[in-house]
Amino acid sequence: MNAVAKFTVADCQARKGRHSIPFLTTYDYPMTRLLDEAGVPFLLVGDSLGMVVLGYPDTTQVTLDDMEHHVRACARARPRALLGADLPIGTYTTPEQAVASARRLQAAGAEYVKAEGGRAILPQVRAIVAAGIPFLGHLGMLPQHVREEGGYHVKGRRPEEAAALVADARALQEAGAFAVVLELVTPPVAAEITRALAIPTIGIGSGPDCDGQILVIHDLVGLFPWFTPRFVKPQAQCGAAIRQAAQAWMQSLPGKPAA
Ligand code: KIV
Repeated sequence: MNAVAKFTVADCQARKGRHSIPFLTTYDYPMTRLLDEAGVPFLLVGDSLGMVVLGYPDTTQVTLDDMEHHVRACARARPRALLGADLPIGTYTTPEQAVASARRLQAAGAEYVKAEGGRAILPQVRAIVAAGIPFLGHLGMLPQHVREEGGYHVKGRRPEEAAALVADARALQEAGAFAVVLELVTPPVAAEITRALAIPTIGIGSGPDCDGQILVIHDLVGLFPWFTPRFVKPQAQCGAAIRQAAQAWMQSLPGKPAA
């Protein structure tokens, strides 16, 4: 029997400008196994874990211990997909800390790490890449900064903001990032960055012209039905299906005569 080839960072990069690259988030063993069986090639244990699994209002309370715990669960699925993980807030404030944190996620099973920011975190990115750990960038709306920013705002509307995004993206590429996530970037600016870079851009709420797209799996399958971002069209209603299954089971229980 032929062994099934593992997806790699090189496979992701080879799709630059050729096919839309699908990325999804995952947080546990069964979801990782299901998405892998569906053929999703690129997976991220996102720190969106904080909202869609742990019940926090945003990502700012997620710890490295939380991420390690969930990366280990996902890695137990031994996916063919490339499996990476977010460095949570406060775990990459210096190059030394960034490498130590990235190594912990790598030991838990992450094959790449992602962190938020551009030129502001370049020494950390260079150190992670020098340590031999593949790095995925993240620009645009940075969820770990949602409290300072007062919400999830679209980026790149003002010319100076657009120019800063392009400069940040080029800097991440030069520092060795293998691809860059663009979150809530205006579609024209996301398209400009995509043209400017030799590495893939992966969009989320940033229009159709990125090299790939990433979604939070709970948004895609309706598993967090209390909030759906405006750019997501859910393909399933798992939340409603769970409620219905629980209600159907309760109604099927045999009735007992009152004592
Ligand atoms: O935490 C996350 O899930 C993410 C992606 C959606 C880009 O950062």
